[in-house]
Amino acid sequence: MRILVIGGTSFVGRTIVGAALGRGHHVTTFNRGLTGKDIDGVEALRGDRSTDEGVAPLAGRGFDAVIDPGGLIPAHVLRTARAVAASAPFYAFVSTTGVYQTWNTVPVDESTATWPGVADQDGDPADFEKLRVHKRGCELAVEQAYGLDASLIARAGSIVGPHDNLGQLPWWLTRIAAGGPVLAPGDPTRSLQLIDVRDVSTFVLDQVEAQASGIYNVVPDEPNTTMGQLIDNCVQATGSDATPIWTDEGFLFSHGVQPWAELPLWIPALPDTAGFWAVSGAAARAAGLRTRPFGDSVRDTWDWLQSGGEVRTAPGTPPFGLAKEKEQQVLAAWDS
Ligand SMILES: NC(=O)c1ccc[n+]([C@@H]2O[C@H](COP(=O)([O-])OP(=O)(O)OC[C@H]3O[C@@H](n4cnc5c(N)ncnc54)[C@H](OP(=O)(O)O)[C@@H]3O)[C@@H](O)[C@H]2O)c1
Repeated sequence: MRILVIGGTSFVGRTIVGAALGRGHHVTTFNRGLTGKDIDGVEALRGDRSTDEGVAPLAGRGFDAVIDPGGLIPAHVLRTARAVAASAPFYAFVSTTGVYQTWNTVPVDESTATWPGVADQDGDPADFEKLRVHKRGCELAVEQAYGLDASLIARAGSIVGPHDNLGQLPWWLTRIAAGGPVLAPGDPTRSLQLIDVRDVSTFVLDQVEAQASGIYNVVPDEPNTTMGQLIDNCVQATGSDATPIWTDEGFLFSHGVQPWAELPLWIPALPDTAGFWAVSGAAARAAGLRTRPFGDSVRDTWDWLQSGGEVRTAPGTPPFGLAKEKEQQVLAAWDS
């Protein structure tokens, strides 16, 4: 197939491009040339989806499908989709399970109410506060330009794997590789639901090849690891002597340790987070999504870091991780 990937040089898009080339497709990427490098084997088009002139290089070209993994602003997605609608019959968009209004509080499936996004809304891609509403607007932009029968909306949950551009699992790996007592949050049996970027990519490409439309949560159907397993997997992958010190959540709050931001992927077990790791992936599973063991994602992410991989975040991405000095202070307080 002739596949156009909008972006394609960072994490999800980069992985899709590599996999599409591996399947023998002809891949064209479209980006500004600011993030990452073009992958060997692609036809690289330069352009900027934030202006009308910027998408001019897409005019008059023919593709069998478009994959848009990184769209963040509805107006940018609408502009891109309109620019290719006459010359490409299918549009796949990577969205987020954060589009559900109750995404963290109760279990959700594809029928759950979403935020009221607006298909032509403009904005700043670095404005993370508006990310969820904007992603819903992006979905509506795809629907407006293509209709639901010629589009795929892949709502990914938290994504891990090589070329990670947020840095949550890479932070844990790097911290655990440094060894010693490691501040570990809450209950080691607390479940997590994390999807490997390569499994997202396989699912999207399978649907694109079949030109199969639909809206799917792209998550493991069940929680696929726990906080304890995550740390054990990191110890195994890095060969570290690190020892987790499991610490009461209330104690961590009282010492100002921030869930998610400072101890990445830690979502405290509170009533208003009951839905966080409880997204239904049943529809995607029925449509063919398969997920690899989480330990493989941890090992391969460590191998990528060891081979020189670096987390390159997009502008506006909040930083992740706990400062060493703060960790030591909190561990000392817990010990006493
Ligand atoms: N990480 C997670 O846990 C998670 C969870 C749920 C959903 N998601 C979604 O997954 C997606 C991840 O995307 P990704 O960053 O990995 O995709 P990517 O396609 O690998 O990288 C983003 C691409 O967009 C290009 N780009 C940015 N601004 C552009 C512009 N104005 N015009 C043209 N190209 C532009 C960048 O290149 P240039 O800068 O060179 O233009 C880059 O190639 C996001 O949509 C995110 O919402 C992530």
